[in-house]
Amino acid sequence: MGDYAIEIKNLRKTYAGSRSAEPKVALKGVDLAIPKGTIFGLLGPNGAGKSTLINIMAGLVIKSAGAVRIWGFDQDKNPRQSRAAIGIVPQELNLDAFLTPRESLDLQAGLFGVPKRERRTDEILATVGLADKANAYARALSGGMRRRLLLGKAMVHNPPVLVLDEPTAGVDIELRRTLWAHIREMNEAGTTIILTTHYLEEAEEMCDRIAIINHGEIVAEDSTENLVASMDVKTLLVTPDAPLSEIPLLPLGVSASFRDSGVLALCYSRSQTPVSEILSALEAGDITIKDIASEEPDLEDVFVRLTEDSPAV
Ligand SMILES: Nc1ncnc2c1ncn2[C@@H]1O[C@H](COP(=O)(O)OP(=O)(O)O)[C@@H](O)[C@H]1O
Ligand SMILES: [Mg+2]
Repeated sequence: MGDYAIEIKNLRKTYAGSRSAEPKVALKGVDLAIPKGTIFGLLGPNGAGKSTLINIMAGLVIKSAGAVRIWGFDQDKNPRQSRAAIGIVPQELNLDAFLTPRESLDLQAGLFGVPKRERRTDEILATVGLADKANAYARALSGGMRRRLLLGKAMVHNPPVLVLDEPTAGVDIELRRTLWAHIREMNEAGTTIILTTHYLEEAEEMCDRIAIINHGEIVAEDSTENLVASMDVKTLLVTPDAPLSEIPLLPLGVSASFRDSGVLALCYSRSQTPVSEILSALEAGDITIKDIASEEPDLEDVFVRLTEDSPAV
């Protein structure tokens, strides 16, 4: 039990309706345990319930039912401690234009009751690369700098768990690299990181564990490695000797498409179609193979398959 940064049991959330809107069920009984020290990815399409889930963890949204423990503290029994154990970086750039980064961090530290002598303002400014902007107004900062300032704000009370809601959405590649480097450093220093992202490749590269959420339910949760390995979709890349005018007849369940320079990409399920069957079909179609390669599934495949409403068999 003591090894989890977050433990969630049967978490439910229904947003109240209004005269014009029906009540909205956003979480339908989520169970989740996030081990301490991990970088944990929460993936899912828009409206899946990711923000609801992490906003409940951070105490920004009130749950309808269920239990949430942050760093061992039950949210209902120890609200103050559980809140102090988590910091959240929201997706929106909600900063006061008339505060400087230094003032923003000081204000945030005050809100969390961090005594003046324990504040690490300069250290945090340096960590997020804003030491030279300490006294600039927020409105004068670039989008990337504002995002790093939000990260800094989430760090002022030194929480052991840091949550980032789509931290790299709309962020250029260079800044994304810098952000990931900061996040990795913090993780190596002991902070448990939870993030949501649409950049699946990045989640695959960044996260130790991944949960996939769809329609308010966790549909898969595993180590990144296992999650990818559990998908038995594979792609065979066939370079024919001569360009093909059309896709040849293939065994049932194999989907084919052309890639650049006439490469035929054949997507199949290892458990259902032996590769020899595919090769025989190519031979029967009088196709001479010049080169052949295979591709492992990436997270995109996993994601698409698991979030399909009626998964392909
Ligand atoms: N404040 C709210 N009031 C009503 N419905 C909401 C509110 N916030 C989110 N929702 C709905 O709850 C569902 C989950 O939303 P959200 O948690 O923001 O998903 P995600 O972050 O995965 O895109 C969506 O259908 C969304 O429209
Ligand atoms: Mg969201």
